[in-house]
Amino acid sequence: MTTPSPHIRYVSGRLHVDNVDVASIAREAGTPVYVYSASEIRDRFRTLSHALKDLDPLLCYALKANGNLHICRLLAELGAGMDVVSGGELERAWLSGASMSKITFAGVGKTEEEIRAALDGRHSPLFGRIKGRDPSSRGMVGRFNAESEQECERIAQIAGELGVRARVSLRVNPDVDAKTHKYTTTGKKENKFGVDIQRGRAIFERFRDHPSLALRGIHLHLGSPIAETAPFVEGTKAALALMDELATIGVKIDELNLGGGFGIDYGRAKPATLEEFGGALAPLLKDRVKSGLKILLEPGRPIVGNSGVLIARVQYIKRGRAKTFVITDTGMHQLLRPALYEAYHFVWPTSVEPHHVPADMSESQNMQGLEVCDVVGPICESSDFLALDRAIPPMKQSDLIAAFSAGAYGMSMANTYNDHPRPAEVLADNGHATIIRPRQHMFDLVASELSAPQPIL
Ligand code: LLP
Repeated sequence: MTTPSPHIRYVSGRLHVDNVDVASIAREAGTPVYVYSASEIRDRFRTLSHALKDLDPLLCYALKANGNLHICRLLAELGAGMDVVSGGELERAWLSGASMSKITFAGVGKTEEEIRAALDGRHSPLFGRIKGRDPSSRGMVGRFNAESEQECERIAQIAGELGVRARVSLRVNPDVDAKTHKYTTTGKKENKFGVDIQRGRAIFERFRDHPSLALRGIHLHLGSPIAETAPFVEGTKAALALMDELATIGVKIDELNLGGGFGIDYGRAKPATLEEFGGALAPLLKDRVKSGLKILLEPGRPIVGNSGVLIARVQYIKRGRAKTFVITDTGMHQLLRPALYEAYHFVWPTSVEPHHVPADMSESQNMQGLEVCDVVGPICESSDFLALDRAIPPMKQSDLIAAFSAGAYGMSMANTYNDHPRPAEVLADNGHATIIRPRQHMFDLVASELSAPQPIL
């Protein structure tokens, strides 16, 4: 099978992730379960570094794609920085072992508490909570990506109180259409993100020489996933034009952060490859890099997207008048992408006859004996589906089914709607498998309410 990952494939008709049979994982860990390939994650990080080598960038892994601590650790060990968008993600990034100087704190609505914890570990909510790890001396994050003028004011004020000088990049909105789903397009003028690029110059001027805030970087992020190189080229050109304009008034930019958004192969349409993205950006930036400009990127999906599968067990087959429903023990609460963005994920049984081993992850498989089904979950919503009208090998009760390319924005967007505990996560690594997050316990769903009511007024 030519999946986008050589580490996720059928061996004698049985799906293997990193040389572990997923049926054995389901037996030990139960279902639903997310299974990731460590080899794939490592390979992807290295491929990305190689594709961008002319730019020698700092790759800050966007851990919103998949924040499991053990995955973050694996990437931190390879030298990745981290892109975080909340106080919670900040703590994960710190716990992963990534150096604080390689952490970028982004996000459109940072609170005072979050900014304080990012500037001084004594304000970390984990202070005194983790045996053997003391955040108090961890130092401040490498940089904030500020999204508004008011946010710059807030960061400057808190940094002043704490007696530090925060490093900040300004996120600009270049009004470039990334041609992705409207919910994941972020670089157009009607989106809430960044400041209008025309306003950029005034903000840089205002904060130049500020004692508590060093505004030295430009940041942009256009959307995700982006299939073509053109929006990146257009966005980069706009950022470079601003940089040149700022140079004429003596404001020097040290860092240019191009965000994330490189598309991946889900099996439907082929986006540009990482090499093509790198190839499109290198000519624009090479000379700047030589003259000292530091390039940052915040990739999430391209590193982990194709590394994971979500494994579910079929509960019922229901043959209705219009359709056949394969009802599984997972759904929109655990893989939200199909419901929210009408996103395509290849779904296929984990154990198949030789003639049903898929050749690729496309919707239309050229083989006999398939049955058109809706693959759905237990949630009380008609948007609760993994796949609609999909031809798959006939399934029966208790079979296992996999949703592919679920490593990014799968578990990280999972919730407990209808009171289903969140799934377990397993990391497979060359024939071995480890639980990296135990299945959430039903008790956790009610624990905080059991400690209430607590009178407040
Ligand atoms: N940087 C910023 C500022 C971002 O907003 C994002 C993603 C990234 C980097 C990482 O983008 P990536 O390399 O992973 O494409 N839930 C949606 C995707 C939302 C992306 C949000 N921001 C999905 O499942 O497709």
